[in-house]
Amino acid sequence: MPFTLDNQLDLLFPSEYIPEDVKSQLHPDLHIRPLASSDYRRGHLDILSVLTVVTDPGEDAWIAQFNAMRAAPKTYYSIVIVDKKSDRIVAVGTIFIERKFLRGLGSVGHIEDIAVDKNQQGKKLGLRIIQALTGISENSGCYKTILNCSDSNIPFYQKCGYEKKENEMTPRL
Ligand code: ACO
Repeated sequence: MPFTLDNQLDLLFPSEYIPEDVKSQLHPDLHIRPLASSDYRRGHLDILSVLTVVTDPGEDAWIAQFNAMRAAPKTYYSIVIVDKKSDRIVAVGTIFIERKFLRGLGSVGHIEDIAVDKNQQGKKLGLRIIQALTGISENSGCYKTILNCSDSNIPFYQKCGYEKKENEMTPRL
């Protein structure tokens, strides 16, 4: 598939929300942009499966989920890095903006589902995804940006400028 420009795609949110300085630091063969309604065909689920078990729902159900996310404006920001030569996705990540009643009707950014193609790891794509999502969170006015990760990923997030704070709790099995 030839590389498709942002203005020819049906995007989850406007491209301008992704900070320019993050865009400009990517290798010229790569492009960072919002998730598009046609990204099922660019291997979106293949990259997510680097992170965890992915059950393919089929393209129609994938698009219905995309549309449901877009119907909640200023809430779901999923981004992808695309290899321009193949027009395939090589990295993904999401920030979910949670609205609150406290802190003067404040918002919290939750970073979720970060994954980089195994063949592309170690080339700072994960870092660029985190920088872009953190920028979106800050530009959305969030008073904090948080994420959960395994112990083995702590060094990666520290390299991205994050620090360990508080604990995660989950129901005992
Ligand atoms: N341990 C130590 N250092 C690491 C690790 C690690 N596991 N991963 C990356 N780093 C370092 C890199 O060496 C680099 O350091 P440098 O600046 O000194 O060169 C820095 O962190 C940035 O690394 P990137 O090249 O940007 O990392 P990459 O593109 O490989 O992405 C990621 C990292 C996302 C963890 C990738 O390895 C991956 O997809 N792993 C499998 C899925 C996963 O675990 N995702 C995160 C789940 S947590 C969540 O989603 C909120």
